[in-house]
Amino acid sequence: MALLAKRPNGTQDVVPNEVYKWQTVESVVRDTAQQFGFREIRVPTFEETGLFVRSVGDTTDVVQKEMYTVSSTGDKTYTLRPEGTAGVIRAVLENGILNEGLPQKVFYTISCYRHEKAQKGRLREFHQFGCELLGAAAPAADADAIALADSVLKRLGLKNIRLNINSIGCPECRAKYREALKAYFEPHRDELCSTCQERLDKNPLRLLDCKSEEDQAIAKDAPVIIDYLCEDCSAHFEAVKKQLGIMGIDYVINPKIVRGLDYYTRTVFEFISDDIGAQGTVCGGGRYDGLIETLGGKPTPALGFAMGLERILLTMEAQGCEFMEEKTCDLYIAAMGDKAAEKTVETVTRLREEGFYVEYDLVGRGLKAQMKYADKIKAKYVIVIGDSELESGSAKLKNMATGEQTDISLGDELLDDFGAQYYELMMSTDDDFRSFVEAFAEDGENK
Ligand code: HAM
Repeated sequence: MALLAKRPNGTQDVVPNEVYKWQTVESVVRDTAQQFGFREIRVPTFEETGLFVRSVGDTTDVVQKEMYTVSSTGDKTYTLRPEGTAGVIRAVLENGILNEGLPQKVFYTISCYRHEKAQKGRLREFHQFGCELLGAAAPAADADAIALADSVLKRLGLKNIRLNINSIGCPECRAKYREALKAYFEPHRDELCSTCQERLDKNPLRLLDCKSEEDQAIAKDAPVIIDYLCEDCSAHFEAVKKQLGIMGIDYVINPKIVRGLDYYTRTVFEFISDDIGAQGTVCGGGRYDGLIETLGGKPTPALGFAMGLERILLTMEAQGCEFMEEKTCDLYIAAMGDKAAEKTVETVTRLREEGFYVEYDLVGRGLKAQMKYADKIKAKYVIVIGDSELESGSAKLKNMATGEQTDISLGDELLDDFGAQYYELMMSTDDDFRSFVEAFAEDGENK
């Protein structure tokens, strides 16, 4: 049979057998962000195109080459978000969130869209976990955001991730640096790609992250911004480094990092994995003290970062990191005959209402096939209901791991009987469950 549709190039399906890996990452990023005081924000998948042009910058690759844009009524166009920061700041301003007091700390887990050449770790639809810390000018804020990213990566079990940091200064330092870059690239003007020839006049900083190999070779010995920092920006960078030292976070200063988006000022950083090939940047971010004002808000210092979840997962797989176990079925109830099927539905319903994960036959299988299915879905317990069970009002509860059987009521005592067996099983096999129960008991004693 020929399929009539295929997955678009540069996108991925996450099938049920693999989804637990995503759920592991999502649960760690959420818990860690909340522990650092960040609250979740949800924003639309598409925004007015002008938002990205103004914030990401009209000379960036993202805006010039990679946006998915559709026209709407009149001459309005909308763009699928290529990143999260612009939309989040738009939403923060539109909803007056900065008036609720500063700092405001928000996080998000979103899909993003960039029309890039698809390859390992570089997709056209990808996912980001991002954090934005708004209204904090102190170097401690830069270090705290970096510490959050570092903490997430460590909790996921990742090793050998390098943190590169740099400062790209403020508009004041940038003006002098622009001139230095212009002077450096001008003699090579004719050798540059056509986009970079244009960038040389408009925004020479962008020449430094051009993807063309020829341009990268020319840019190799270009002046670095760190040599052009003003006094305030230098002091800020020194203080960030000091704070990272206090926090015990290792870093390398990489004067070549400029980031591919225009809104950055001062501190920029990237976490890099060497285990996933050329697209090894698993997280990127920095300060963007001018963006909120650019988008119509009051001048407000801000910073943030985003992690590429596909790249995180690729690294976790490459390093053999552990993922959360998939939840398996607590009980499968097999039925023999129509009357037993009715009792089964009633029993399943009662147990599900109590929160147990219970399954039964929905496709009309015989007993043997039902047992095989129970085995396949790794059910912890199985009950078979047939005529004799209906008559006696009780059944055998079989522990699938040990083969042990105990009697269980199908009547009033059902929940007590099953609950007791389940508790015993979990206490002897599930470390997390046991620690939770023990901590709960201890807490009770202390009260
Ligand atoms: P970005 O560096 O463009 O920054 O993207 C952040 C991360 O998203 C990258 O480090 C990478 O892991 C992942 N990523 C980017 N493009 C792709 C792609 N085509 N395929 C797979 N993964 C990708 C931003 O987006 C900023 N908004 C980060 C930020 C937040 N800065 C301040 N706040």
